[in-house]
Amino acid sequence: MVMQFTHALRHFVSATFIGVSMMSVSAQSPYDPDIEALIKNMTIEEKVGQMTQLNLDVISKGEIYNLVEPHQLDAEKLKKALVDYHVGSILNCGGHAYTREHWREIIGEIQRVATKETRLGIPIIYGIDAIHGANYTLGSTLFPQQIGQAATFNEMLVARAAEITAYEVRASGITWNFSPVLDLMRNPQWSRCFETFGEDVLLAKNMTHAAITGYQGATLTNDPVKVAACMKHFLGYSMPRTGMDRTPAYISDILLREYFLPTFQEAVQSGAATVMINSGEINGIPVHANKKIVTDLLRTELGFEGVAVTDWEDIMKLNNFHKVAPTMKDAVRMAIDAGIDMSMVPNNYEFCDLLVELVKEGTITEERLDVSVRRILILKKKLGLFENPMPAADNNYAAFGNASGKLVSQLTAEESITLLKNANQLLPLDAKTKILVTGPGADSYTMLNGAWTRTWQGTDTKWDDPSVASIYDALKNMGGENVQYVQGCTTSALSDYQAALTAAQQVDVIIACMGELPSTEIPGNIQDMHLDKAQLDYISMLSATGKPLILLLTESRPRIIRDIEPNCNAILQLYYPGDMGGVAAANIIYGKVNPSGKLPYTYPKYANALLWYDHKHTETMDVDFGNDAFDPQWTFGYGLSYTIFEYSNLYISNDTMTSAGLTVSVTVKNTGSRVGKEVVQLYLSDQFASITPSVKRLKAYQKIELQPQESRVITFQLTPEQLQFVGADLQWIAEPGWFDVSINGSKTSFYYKSN
Ligand code: BGC
Repeated sequence: MVMQFTHALRHFVSATFIGVSMMSVSAQSPYDPDIEALIKNMTIEEKVGQMTQLNLDVISKGEIYNLVEPHQLDAEKLKKALVDYHVGSILNCGGHAYTREHWREIIGEIQRVATKETRLGIPIIYGIDAIHGANYTLGSTLFPQQIGQAATFNEMLVARAAEITAYEVRASGITWNFSPVLDLMRNPQWSRCFETFGEDVLLAKNMTHAAITGYQGATLTNDPVKVAACMKHFLGYSMPRTGMDRTPAYISDILLREYFLPTFQEAVQSGAATVMINSGEINGIPVHANKKIVTDLLRTELGFEGVAVTDWEDIMKLNNFHKVAPTMKDAVRMAIDAGIDMSMVPNNYEFCDLLVELVKEGTITEERLDVSVRRILILKKKLGLFENPMPAADNNYAAFGNASGKLVSQLTAEESITLLKNANQLLPLDAKTKILVTGPGADSYTMLNGAWTRTWQGTDTKWDDPSVASIYDALKNMGGENVQYVQGCTTSALSDYQAALTAAQQVDVIIACMGELPSTEIPGNIQDMHLDKAQLDYISMLSATGKPLILLLTESRPRIIRDIEPNCNAILQLYYPGDMGGVAAANIIYGKVNPSGKLPYTYPKYANALLWYDHKHTETMDVDFGNDAFDPQWTFGYGLSYTIFEYSNLYISNDTMTSAGLTVSVTVKNTGSRVGKEVVQLYLSDQFASITPSVKRLKAYQKIELQPQESRVITFQLTPEQLQFVGADLQWIAEPGWFDVSINGSKTSFYYKSN
């Protein structure tokens, strides 16, 4: 289908392009003669249009946020957007998921108008949040949310989940995925913890590489099973002081660089095509107006060449929320000056009108527009949209939602689920065990999946997929008549708890499925870290029956359960395990699968002690006063197995490290009777440093599988790079001195000599 290409590009290429040399193109944008020719022929309005992203609602029948059902495009509105305003990008889902057929119809029609009815015929790029699978396409494969993916410590599964997601997004005719979230989980109160890869830099970096290459391939090409990834939200979004979404963060430059930047740097190196900017403010400056972050750091330092899109309404918010822009026009100027390429406006045309005005009056140069338009058009070209803007033939996507995708989802869920407690080896259960399954998460599709599931908040049960097994369904399928269900309570109130307590008398074991209803962003803000009181009360009542109690958690973030933890004989953290999470949980409960997930964050015990595992020494020092400040419920990296792994022979190849590095090894033996997977974790502690060192940092890990009685020597290569931290001058440095290496509690030391 070279015809579309002809229409949009070839025409302008043939008019020999003279006068633009590499010198006149921004140093950060690759030079492409086709694109330069096209840009040269564009009006200011057409350029501004390319920089505009609108919500699907704006071109659909009905009111914004209240569309006519079933969804239909509105031909007049579509014409206004694409023909009159030259809009270059559309996003979102009009309120809920659609069938694949409907998506293909929508995209096909938008592309038809964009390429046939506009002067230049430039295709649009459609963006969507497919953050744990193609969640806005009905029938797609839904995976565990990112936090669960991180708990697997298995990059292969994460890459495979991203590949399948890309395939299913493309099967829906869409080419741009607003994923992955690369914000580090440094405030467990935040409503979007479940969207992150957890609190540790190394783990999150490794998962970042897996996700980006899974979505895009080694480099982004026009491969019809890949999508453009969007690393988000640049930068420092995830540590608001209050824990509330989009409220101010106060982050030192050292912290910003050492903890929040590495995932994004990794994503840039992995070829991430686009970035979304953080909606919040850092140290008093909204990031959308912060040139130091959006241009100096992102472009000059990281060398990012792709497209920077704002987050939802964020230019407008510089005026009406952040109050740094006295008028909307100032807001547009500030964001353009900071360096954004595309405005997720997304519900009106004010951005277009104001940006055109700013250019016409000379406040913003047309060359500035060219820099952004160039990046956007290059992205469209890379994705093959000029050659073929239409969704590829439907029968090219026969694997959509198929069993092999579901299997990957199940394996990911199985490796993510984390066994936090197992007193007296209560788990696994025998198939004959009589079980009462209870609690709000037991028979809930929404609580398996979390937010961004068929709708934004993921709470509307209208979209439940009846073919998906809930936790109760999956247990019942395996345990048959031995398994019964009474809900007992919702997430916030007791319901038929009397019936549950009566039923409990007849069983051997109670499985209580507790946690949070899905939520994200501002609707997910909480005032209190504790698990809801009704659920805590209910657990106490269940425990009073004297029956062994197994707690299953599905939650957006670690809710405090200190008071009920002693009442529970076993505890499993499921995160939001996705469509196959019920089956995965049942397989673990009945011992068909040996759990191997590890916590990707520190689970707090007290609301006033929200510390990271890699906190500073002063945060644990005042034990003399009875205030052992680091006393979490469970720490990062923790997770039990049904077998026992014994560690021995921690060995270091040299007690001095030079630039050549050194080798650390340890023997791990499975001394139990079941095959099992273990994450061997190597931590380093810098004994003394010019910037107060953390007590320890994860520097390497390997996930291994051992047969019963099998032992293996695990070897890690360490180099001076792994000793580095961000110093007072904001450069990464490794200082000479003593370092402790620890693996599973055993410790040895070496001296680093910088040659
Ligand atoms: C979220 C982004 C998301 C965007 C588009 C925003 O509210 O912060 O993560 O990609 O909406 O749906």
